[in-house]
Amino acid sequence: MSLTEHEIEHLREHIEHYPEKRAGAIYCLYYVQDKYGYIPRASLDEVSELTDLSPTQLDELITFYTLLRRRPVGRRLIRICDSISCYTRGSEQVLAAAKEASGVEFGQISKDGAVTVLPSICLGLCDRAPAGLVDDSEDLGELTPEKIRDLICSYAAETLDSKSGGGQQILAVLKDQQ
Ligand code: FES
Repeated sequence: MSLTEHEIEHLREHIEHYPEKRAGAIYCLYYVQDKYGYIPRASLDEVSELTDLSPTQLDELITFYTLLRRRPVGRRLIRICDSISCYTRGSEQVLAAAKEASGVEFGQISKDGAVTVLPSICLGLCDRAPAGLVDDSEDLGELTPEKIRDLICSYAAETLDSKSGGGQQILAVLKDQQ
């Protein structure tokens, strides 16, 4: 997996707008993640060359920014907050139900490729606790174990119906990596 010449040129032009190349690292990492759904090792090397940050430094950045990820995720990424406001309003039970419905551990891709569930620090939705976020863009509020189970079931059905075979593509990526 690697970026095309055109993509690298786009990133290089973007980076030129910053006083230092390293300032463009976050943009590059998000760009790569948008393309692949995560940041593969080969792309880390490419971003390293563009930004003059070492792969280890980029890895540290990815660890710091929770919206960046190094591993592939399911067709839908569900974050569920386990910080204090959500915890006191039942996030533990919501997380347990989500794990059971996905059939795999947190951070893993469900067998059908439909979902990955991740516990998260505060998502800024405390007034709607227990809260979650789908695909880093769609808010979930007042979650209950039933609601999260229904949601995961609907994503499983959506994946099954999908003409694009999104879930199968994700599973194919994983198989390639084994
Ligand atoms: S504590 Fe859960 S969204 Fe803030």
